[in-house]
Amino acid sequence: MKVLVLGATGFIGFPAAQALARAGHIVYGLARTEAKAKILAAEEIIPILGDLDSSVWLSLIATLDAIIETVSASPDGSRSIFERTVKAAKELRPAGAPLLSYIYTSGTWVHGDNRTDIVTDTTPIARPVEIVAWRPAVEQLVAHSTAVTGIVVRPALLYGRSASILAPLFKGASSEGKVVWPGTPGGRYAVIHTDDLADLFVRVAERAPLLGGKIFDAANSQTESVDELLQKLVQISGAKGPYEYRKPENLYEEAIQATTLVRPYLANALLGWSPKKPGLVESLDIYYAAWRASSA
Ligand SMILES: *[C@@H]1O[C@H](CO)[C@@H](O)[C@H](O)[C@H]1NC(C)=O
Repeated sequence: MKVLVLGATGFIGFPAAQALARAGHIVYGLARTEAKAKILAAEEIIPILGDLDSSVWLSLIATLDAIIETVSASPDGSRSIFERTVKAAKELRPAGAPLLSYIYTSGTWVHGDNRTDIVTDTTPIARPVEIVAWRPAVEQLVAHSTAVTGIVVRPALLYGRSASILAPLFKGASSEGKVVWPGTPGGRYAVIHTDDLADLFVRVAERAPLLGGKIFDAANSQTESVDELLQKLVQISGAKGPYEYRKPENLYEEAIQATTLVRPYLANALLGWSPKKPGLVESLDIYYAAWRASSA
């Protein structure tokens, strides 16, 4: 398969591009700088030097099988990347050619903040967390496209490696010796390790022609207690306890304090996917050490 990863040097896109290359595919990655291009090339990912706003990547659409969009874009950004892809597909691919597969990365925050109701992949979206209120419309645009085979993957809160959203939490523990986090006691996180997510992208990309219109939640089958996460971080980091919650100061932090009780089933049922990594709290020592090593 020939796949282009948009966001190939990012927290989600890099492991996905590596996993696709290991699975034997021809993988292209968009890189903004020579230094990033080199990182991709060393992983046998073919770098395309340029940025998203340029048209360097659009000419690949003539012969690609799939595009995976992992750019955490703005509402207009996501829409524009998709619309430019569709336009290029119409212009560059011969009539009757197999449809290009387009995999859009959303997130489980679209399910909203709710501490009592469990949601699944196919639960109707009613009250997304405010900062991602625009995402369901983009999900629908992609999933209902007739110009490409559109599929959506919604990762839960990511963990592993350089820690992504959890990095500031780890940093507080390490450099200030304090564990302080937006939220209130009793919250729970749906989480997914970046390697397990990468495995899901491989499975979705390979079976994409059968999956048009599908939306997959990517989360471990059990959520994690945020209280336990913070308590364990105090223990392993040597930070001064007890941990504390504080009020969110912006929309992003309001999203961080959201509880979404995700119980995914679709990726397991259709693709045989199940996350394999140890849980976030259970192996927090490994994940904290990985963040320290990668941020040094
Ligand atoms: C949680 O979801 C249920 C069902 O949709 C709803 O009745 C309830 O109000 C929600 N709770 C909150 C705090 O939004």
